[in-house]
Amino acid sequence: MMTLHLRRADTSVVLDLPDDRFPVVRHWGPDLGDVSGEDLADATPAQATSLGTNTAWITNDLPILPLAHLGWSARPAVALSRTDGTAFSPHPTAFSHEESSEDTPAGTAHVVRSAGTDPVHRLSLGTELRLEPCGLVRLRAWVRDDRPESDGERGADLVVGELTPVLPLPDSADELLDTTGHHVQERRLVRTPFTPGTRLRESWEGRPGHDAVTWLAAGPTGFGWRSGRVHGVHVAWSGNVRHLAMNPASGRKLLGAGELLLPGEVSLAPGQTYTSPWTVFSWGEGLDTLAHRSHAWLRSRPAHPSRPRPVLLNTWEAVYFDHDLDKLKALADAAAQVGIERYVLDDGWFGSRRDDTSGLGDWQVSPEAWPDGLEPLVEHVHSLGMEFGLWFEPEMINVDSELARAHPEWILSDGAGGAPEHRHQRVLDLTAPGAWDYLFDAISALVERLDIAYLKWDHNSPLLAAGHEVADPTAGRQGAAAVHDQTLAVYRLLDALHERFPSLEIESCAGGGGRIDLGIMERTQRVWASDCIDAHDRQNIQRGTTLLLPPELVGTHVGSGRAHTTLRDLDLDFRAGTALWGHMGVEWDLTEADEPTRERLASIIALHKDLRGLLHSGVTVHADLSDDDMLRIEGVVAPDSSDALFEIASLGQLLVWPTAPRPLPGLDPSRRYHVRLAAPTYPELSLAAGWMAEGVTLPGSYLTTTGLALPVLHPDHLVLLRVSAVN
Ligand code: DGJ
Repeated sequence: MMTLHLRRADTSVVLDLPDDRFPVVRHWGPDLGDVSGEDLADATPAQATSLGTNTAWITNDLPILPLAHLGWSARPAVALSRTDGTAFSPHPTAFSHEESSEDTPAGTAHVVRSAGTDPVHRLSLGTELRLEPCGLVRLRAWVRDDRPESDGERGADLVVGELTPVLPLPDSADELLDTTGHHVQERRLVRTPFTPGTRLRESWEGRPGHDAVTWLAAGPTGFGWRSGRVHGVHVAWSGNVRHLAMNPASGRKLLGAGELLLPGEVSLAPGQTYTSPWTVFSWGEGLDTLAHRSHAWLRSRPAHPSRPRPVLLNTWEAVYFDHDLDKLKALADAAAQVGIERYVLDDGWFGSRRDDTSGLGDWQVSPEAWPDGLEPLVEHVHSLGMEFGLWFEPEMINVDSELARAHPEWILSDGAGGAPEHRHQRVLDLTAPGAWDYLFDAISALVERLDIAYLKWDHNSPLLAAGHEVADPTAGRQGAAAVHDQTLAVYRLLDALHERFPSLEIESCAGGGGRIDLGIMERTQRVWASDCIDAHDRQNIQRGTTLLLPPELVGTHVGSGRAHTTLRDLDLDFRAGTALWGHMGVEWDLTEADEPTRERLASIIALHKDLRGLLHSGVTVHADLSDDDMLRIEGVVAPDSSDALFEIASLGQLLVWPTAPRPLPGLDPSRRYHVRLAAPTYPELSLAAGWMAEGVTLPGSYLTTTGLALPVLHPDHLVLLRVSAVN
């Protein structure tokens, strides 16, 4: 048996490649140094399957696809069976393993492909494990029905229940962290003790959802942003998903994730293969490092935006469905005046869509709302030097629409009426013959005609009781569950639009942050993190979202003084200072804002433009603080540590004040830094902290440990600190 030692980005993965099973992971975590696989082969026993075995020829090492026939008595990684009930316990025997190196845009990845055949049940299983240059481990599995395609007696098809690869955790992991939430409150961090049993987080709504897990992470109790060895799992898939952390009675703890398939959703005919989405694993000393790996991964995508993120204005909270050319032109004037670079017309421009009850699916400009078409607005926007973006919700349909009247059979259902409507909408079956082409043609025609730079791609309704009403000749089966096919069809649509319009940018929005995952991120350039743009709540939402995504991919908007979703009144400096970190935008009727307000907004947008090179390429860091989570010190440090921006934000009254000095994390301890206030100085801000008036120069070693005396911050206020290396 061969043992491999793979190393990338401070990460080692040690793998046994046995003849009788899939790879066995002996180590996944910190770099072990220059030591060969052979030297490690005898060092430690690997993860054991749950039961001992009386069979001398079988070892009890646990592979990345644990199966019952190996003596594993907990949840197996593979669930399948034939329609006649056989093949319920796949038993692959003859294994091959193939190791290679592959060039990627970010460097060389280590790849191990393994396959095993099960001649008794006439199927094969396989895995692909990749250690990426950024230290992420990506793992996927496949199953193939090995009956010959020519088999006249077709017999029983192979129904796939799940493929959920796992990796082992260190025993010190006794606390779990993931995210949950709901519409307007996405990605709140949740900690739970890692007790015996399984923490199972699933999405059954045809997308990861507003309560998506983001990362399911495990570490020693109290692990923080900067310390505590933490391992996490995320599945790169935009349909139904399953994440689990297992703490079985048999010993070592495991993390796993995969697609959640609905009953009968994937059924293989002779020769057909199901390949799971990528299950992505990250680790770090603290959550910051865990997040850096997915940030680095996303930044290495060929389609990662390479030009500065244009500051945008979105019309939704400014006018909602009330589309009036003069008003929207005046809004464009006000936007250009404060430095906006992209103008996005939201919902309400098409068909009979004057509110959310009708017209969805009719992707033709409404002659009622826009008698001269969108051209007069688009020309005005372009004449002001801004790009134009447009809202679509391609997968959704109002029953009250021309499209639904023409093609009722294009609507996903369970054959008996389906689930209740959400926001008066139902879901279009993108695999129904003609549906995908209709969307591609309708969207392409508008992109071409209006020179659209950006699509806001919304997705408000969950996919519940969603089956094919008609059979697609190649993929869909009438009456069968359709989320898997639908997810692939959406990917194909996004890919085809990018292929046709290479510079087109697409935002993934799903009633805010309901579809944020590494699968959709292969094909989109921004996410709308939440419909809540209240900066107080956004502090949490953005912190949770940047656990997975780098800030430049996260849409962050400045809203009006009173937040529409919470009715909270907040100062402009706090609103804009919170929005400044991501892909910044404004979503507010600026025609109603007075001149001093617009000037202040313009100055913070100018500051953002000045800083976005740093903000959108740097390393995101968070201080570990114990102030009831009311005080936040977060920042972005340039990759060479020469420059940084920090935010010190208060989200409520602290129990103690004045506080002890607090650290600025992530700086180079061997350098000296000048720290100064970058913005804002609101009138009530006490400059009591002596260094604030002139700034101060201190060693990085001091700033990252002892840190700075803080100004007295009022609840829902923040200050920004620019930190520049002087040596
Ligand atoms: C939900 C989105 O999240 C909002 O930003 C907006 O686009 C509305 N849909 C429009 O209906």
